[in-house]
This record gives sequence, C-alpha cells and structure tokens, in this order.
Amino acid sequence: MTDMRVSIAGVEMKNPIITASGAFGYGMEYNEMYPIEKLGGISCKGTTLNERQGNPGPRIAETPSGMLNSVGLQNPGSEAFINIYLPWLRQRDITVIANIAGHSLDEYREVARRVSDANVDLVELNISCPNVKEGGMSFGTSCESVEAVVSEVRKVCNRPLVVKLTPNVTDIGSIAQAAEAAGADAVSLINTITGMRIDIRTRRPILKNNIGGLSGPAVFPVAVRMVREVYKKVNIPIIGMGGVSTWEDAAEMMMAGAAAIQVGAALFRDPFAPLKIIDGLQTFADQQGLKSITELTGSVQEW
Ligand SMILES: Cc1cc2nc3c(=O)[nH]c(=O)nc-3n(C[C@H](O)[C@H](O)[C@H](O)COP(=O)(O)O)c2cc1C
Repeated sequence: MTDMRVSIAGVEMKNPIITASGAFGYGMEYNEMYPIEKLGGISCKGTTLNERQGNPGPRIAETPSGMLNSVGLQNPGSEAFINIYLPWLRQRDITVIANIAGHSLDEYREVARRVSDANVDLVELNISCPNVKEGGMSFGTSCESVEAVVSEVRKVCNRPLVVKLTPNVTDIGSIAQAAEAAGADAVSLINTITGMRIDIRTRRPILKNNIGGLSGPAVFPVAVRMVREVYKKVNIPIIGMGGVSTWEDAAEMMMAGAAAIQVGAALFRDPFAPLKIIDGLQTFADQQGLKSITELTGSVQEW
C-alpha cells in the first residue's frame, strides 16, 4: 500500500488532507460525526488578537458552483483559542495548524507571538486582511507589504510558518517569492477570490458587506494554475486549496505542485468529503503503484 504520510516544513502528517480555515471551526461538531483523527490536519478558524463578531448578515451567498462569504473573521480571539480550543484539539492525534490574522503589523506580531508560544504544530499566516493603517489595502497584494508582514511575524514565530496567499493579485509567483525571501517555511494558496452578487429586484447586493470571497468548485481551475505558477517559483512546500471537492481534484492539485491539500467549501455540501478524498487518493495511489503519495507532487508533464 502507498505510504500516505507527507511532511510540511518538518511536520509530519498521516495523510495530505487538511480541513481549510473557516470551514471546519475547531473540528468539535465534526468530531461527533467521525473521529477527526482520520484527517491529516486541521487549519483552525482564523484567530485575531481579540474576539471579533465579524460582519453583519447576510454574509453567505450562493453562486454557480460555489459560494461567496463575508464572515469577516468572526472568532473568539487568541486567548480563547489557546485556553479552550487548542487544549481540546491537543487531546487528539492530529496536526494542528493555527491560522492567524491581523489588521496591523502590531496585531500580526502579537497574535503570532502568543499562538506560536502555545502548543501548535504550524502557524498559517493569512495575509489577505486589509492593512487598516495603510488605507485598507490587503497585506498580501504587494511584494513590499508581504515582505514586511512575513519578516515581522518570522521574528516572533517559533513554529514553522506557512504563509497563506491571496489570489487577488496579478503575479502570484512573485508574491510567493517575496514570502519565501522573508522567511516563510511553506506557502498555502488560494484564499478566496473577491466577488459580488446583486438581487435584481431590490437592487441591493446580497451580502450586507456588498462584496465577499468566492470559494468552491468555481475557483478550482484558477487555484490549480496558481499552485503551478508558485511551484515553478519557490523551493518551499505548497499547501494547495481552492475548490477541491473530490479525490480527483486533490490528485490534480498535487500534480500541479501541492505537497498537501486543504478542503474548505466542499465541507458544507458533504461533511464527509475529506474522508472520501483520503480513501479515493489511497486507492488511486495503490493502483498507480506509488511507494509514497509524495510522488504525485509536481508530477504533471507539461506540453
Ligand atoms: C465561510 C468561510 C470562512 C473562511 N474563513 C477563513 C479564515 O478565517 N482564514 C483563512 O485564512 N481563510 C478562510 N477561508 C478561506 C478558506 O480557508 C479557503 O482558502 C478558500 O475558501 C478556498 O478553498 P475552498 O474552495 O476549498 O473553500 C474561509 C472560507 C469560507 C468559505
């Protein structure tokens, strides 16, 4: 049987399938349906320094083959994450990724320091947030601000650092290089793509926030292309995500260059999707005669 273990920045996971930040909470509800230990890892809901209520509703809208969300980082804050949710997760045999967010360099630094001092395996830095002090431009959209936030967080983060990239840029390859140069141990991509829907009868946007982030199968080909571009530009591992719903999608994204995969929106249609993906990948890899699932990574043969 194919060995399903993968390693990201020295952290070993029992298989390459991780639940994506924001789509799985801390796994508590899901653990009532199946043991979450079956997963390779869990990327927890984005943690900010203090508790946040998020945006007012409606904050979810359906789209063809996907969904828009404007949850706005609702979360209980770093103290509750460290004292309530993390201890529960640490009783389970699962790789724990703390996803962190901030709206200023100071907030990023402080939340990174607190969370990485706690017992997490990896820190995933969400750089899609607006930089409030610099007019609200997302940290992740210019090489300069990516370098600034990653190098600041790197100084205080004593765990392997995964930098999660926004797809709302023209050249994701150079953004990934900037993250690598500033000390990222891995990158993860893609976060959601900005989008908007309008109710034509009321002439109002469906989301109270007017715009939101698109995820689900609609974004999958964009994510595969971006993973491929980044794979060609950096020497650190890539965690791929964006619309992965089936084991075939996971295999495809690994062939583009991903060493591990996150599953987000697919969980809302089928909470068992990650387990089906793990089983399907195992069968496929066995049939292909692979010794290790890592052989899939980057194995596409481009024309
Ligand atoms: C409801 C919802 C909440 C999300 N919250 C976060 C978050 O807190 N931090 C983060 O980095 N990404 C967040 N994401 C983005 C996902 O982790 C993922 O990058 C994106 O949805 C693409 O993958 P998918 O198509 O499999 O969902 C969220 C996505 C959804 C749908």
